[in-house]
Amino acid sequence: MQRLELKNVNKVFGSGTNRVQALSQVNFEAKAGELTLILGPSGSGKSTLLTILGGLQQPTSGEVLINGNRFDGKRGKAADDFRLKHIGFVLQSYSLVPYLTVAEQFQLVDKVKKAGNLPPKQFDNDLNRLGITSLLDKYPGELSGGQSQRVAIARALYANPDFILADEPTAALDSARVQEVGRLLKDIAEKEEKAVVVVTHDLRLKEEADRIYQLVDGKISLEKS
Ligand SMILES: Nc1ncnc2c1ncn2[C@@H]1O[C@H](COP(=O)(O)OP(=O)(O)OP(=O)(O)O)[C@@H](O)[C@H]1O
Ligand SMILES: [Mg+2]
Repeated sequence: MQRLELKNVNKVFGSGTNRVQALSQVNFEAKAGELTLILGPSGSGKSTLLTILGGLQQPTSGEVLINGNRFDGKRGKAADDFRLKHIGFVLQSYSLVPYLTVAEQFQLVDKVKKAGNLPPKQFDNDLNRLGITSLLDKYPGELSGGQSQRVAIARALYANPDFILADEPTAALDSARVQEVGRLLKDIAEKEEKAVVVVTHDLRLKEEADRIYQLVDGKISLEKS
């Protein structure tokens, strides 16, 4: 069973008068088969938590565990390979490549990760559900915020990762789209046995969530499990 955990995680930025404690003694768990939501206002530490969970930055103290094994402190090629194969990120900034069309963003995934990506039929179905099939020839500069967001989600799904970590994936979407994206993420968690973690301040996603945490000033509490 795929499982992601944080144990007593603290994250401190800066020192002296610039010191910010972004995360305080955070304990957290996300499991395959579940859509886990972390709700919190701006500045509460959501992006910090998500990037620590996926190994993009390190905790100041505490442990990050993947399937029970320590993941914090892992650096270098083995850690990069693991991330590439097993973790899909949807970052707050979308991070699409400006000079590649939407279709080419996905082809780029094939170049960096040669095996295990979604078969065309399954991916077409995701593109349809995300409503971006007609955007394949467009460049990121020609997309709206909501369209870019859905392309970033599709790119993460395409690599077929075990863990999907999404930062505010619905911030730019209207309510109908939010519900569709919520259902899609829940379906992927349940039917494909993946652990999907979404950090957001979007309360509209609560309906679809299996497990809900609240994050306030870097402190986490479990609201629903
Ligand atoms: N690299 C950094 N250096 C210094 N402080 C940082 C850094 N990253 C985050 N912080 C601080 O940590 C706190 C949490 O930031 P974080 O980006 O995790 O919040 P967030 O919940 O994702 O906010 P938002 O909803 O606005 O994206 C904030 O006070 C922020 O200023
Ligand atoms: Mg953030």
